[in-house]
Amino acid sequence: WSQDLAFTPEIQANSVGMHHDGMYHFPISDDTASSNFIMALNNEYIDQRALAKGLPQGYTRNEKGEVRLTGERDPDEVRTEINAHGVTVVELRRDENRVWDVVRSSQYNRRITSATPCDLEGPVAGSQYVVTAYDNTGRTTRGTNNNCASGFTPWGTYLTCEENWPSIFAKYDTQDNAEYGVNATADRYADDDRLGIPHYVFDDNDDIIGLDTGRYGWLTSADPAEDTAGEFARFNATATASSASGDYRNEPRTFGYIVEIDPYDASSRPVKRTALGRFRHEGCWPGKLVAGEPVVFYSGHDARNEYIYKFVSDAKWDPADANMAGATTDRLAIGAKYMNEGTLYAAKFNADGSGEWLELEPDTIVPASAGSRYAGMTLASALGLEAGDRAGIIIHTCDAADLMGATPMDRPEWGTVDPVSGEVYMTLTNNSDRLPEGQSPTFSNGSSIEEPGSAYDEAPVNAANPRVNNNDGQVIRWVEPSPGDTRFSWDIFVFGALGTDSEAEDYNRSSLTAQNYFSSCDGLWYDDRGDGQGILWIETDTGGTSVTNDQVLAVVPQGLQKGNNASVINSENQAQLKRFAVGPNGCEVTGIFATPDKTALFINIQHPSNWPIDDSGSNTPDATVEPSGNVRPRASTVVIQKADGGQIAV
Ligand code: FEO
Ligand code: CA
Ligand code: CA
Repeated sequence: WSQDLAFTPEIQANSVGMHHDGMYHFPISDDTASSNFIMALNNEYIDQRALAKGLPQGYTRNEKGEVRLTGERDPDEVRTEINAHGVTVVELRRDENRVWDVVRSSQYNRRITSATPCDLEGPVAGSQYVVTAYDNTGRTTRGTNNNCASGFTPWGTYLTCEENWPSIFAKYDTQDNAEYGVNATADRYADDDRLGIPHYVFDDNDDIIGLDTGRYGWLTSADPAEDTAGEFARFNATATASSASGDYRNEPRTFGYIVEIDPYDASSRPVKRTALGRFRHEGCWPGKLVAGEPVVFYSGHDARNEYIYKFVSDAKWDPADANMAGATTDRLAIGAKYMNEGTLYAAKFNADGSGEWLELEPDTIVPASAGSRYAGMTLASALGLEAGDRAGIIIHTCDAADLMGATPMDRPEWGTVDPVSGEVYMTLTNNSDRLPEGQSPTFSNGSSIEEPGSAYDEAPVNAANPRVNNNDGQVIRWVEPSPGDTRFSWDIFVFGALGTDSEAEDYNRSSLTAQNYFSSCDGLWYDDRGDGQGILWIETDTGGTSVTNDQVLAVVPQGLQKGNNASVINSENQAQLKRFAVGPNGCEVTGIFATPDKTALFINIQHPSNWPIDDSGSNTPDATVEPSGNVRPRASTVVIQKADGGQIAV
């Protein structure tokens, strides 16, 4: 990186991407696992102006100072942006002075971007839902996008999770613009509405009004005469041909998945594991492994009042499938064995501390307890699908969870699992749309949650999400009797709070103090120390507040007694929750793992506002001072090591 470097598609395709988020490490050999490994790293989104060093072509600033897309995007600037997204796989090595560096010529180094060919596997693969002009058989697509939290599998692959992908697409509202579509009604897929694919709206002169560009306006680079391969046209989800095999109306249905990557084989194709559901996936974490029991994965939909999910494999865990560093195993074939066939469930949290995993299969009967007019019908018929249409259930995962009566949550973010106890922790980052008890919910489309394509806009508090206008979030925890069990018990581990919020009565329920105030918990990692006293690491994402910058906290959960308080962390034991590190201004702290010997902790600093401090040459060493120069702030992976080389956090 240098201040004067021109960003081109080629340079970007050979660089670490932008806005680091989830990451994980993969040893090359067990002997050197703590000093030499492959790191896979998500590049969640981009800051266009930092990338282009100013306003990209096509954008203008109006008299109010607002930046708007008013023209067409330059194809090479768009390609550069596409190449700055996705996943970076890079070999890292520590030298004898404990300095880490990238191994530049490594056979493992690669970029997976928003244009990399990917395979679809599981129920959706080969179905009519994912037929596009790119692949009439519906088995492949291009790119993975807005990859937020990470996950990993026991067989040595990386999981990257597609979160805010809907807004890279856009649809023309065809009602007044027949030239752009064949049928306004057919074009309005319920899942597009449910997940938030943006619509362009035109006036009578065919000018775009209320311009909703999609996130970056990539589709404006498409010249129909030149873009025959749909390089940019694929971001236009409007039905423009006589059938789906002639356009990209189904392209968004090839996104919203957990994507498996073999970091050991740079020639392997990423695989979208559709059996784990389709929504705005924050991340994906394996449950406790038990030989002869199913392998389970937990995931969450990060949007206000959305749900938590669990996937239970049909195949039973065989410890012989565990990763052997350096082996030439076909890891994606093992992934297919455990992740293509199984059952998906959504979580219901009861007020008495019990919980239930609600099955989402085509023949699952909609329960009367969910209060829906579809009670007694199968999910397939309630959703208007053919009997046995598992692909349709996955495409409409959220609608299926609505009908089953899943509990709307305060924005599920990261999860992590204590591999000894099997306890699952998940952050619920915040929720500004949480109403007082007894107040009626409101819905995004239609008049009720059971309307296809409709989501909760605002939902009343419930036991697992008990605070109105929850600005600061909480960490919830649950445990099941065995991995495949559909019953669980849950409690709240800790409620976030900041100084000013805490003045409200009954808000600071974990009795946090100035030493450990936090808000908007997001990243999470259970650091198993092998002695039953593992550390739970919690990272935050507020973008900074007047009370604190974003931070990393640490707590040893085992042995903490809940007592009669609302959460495990309470006034008696709150000093056990310790602030470990604080990030620079404006950043989010995310992504976390330690080397197996626990001497180096890796975290990511995303979207800092003043790092590297400035380019005026002064290089002010105080990162808390707002810069005066012209900065191009960039995300960074930060390694924390003790001066004496000992284990972190002991
Ligand atoms: Fe990308 Fe939900 O954070
Ligand atoms: Ca996140
Ligand atoms: Ca967040």
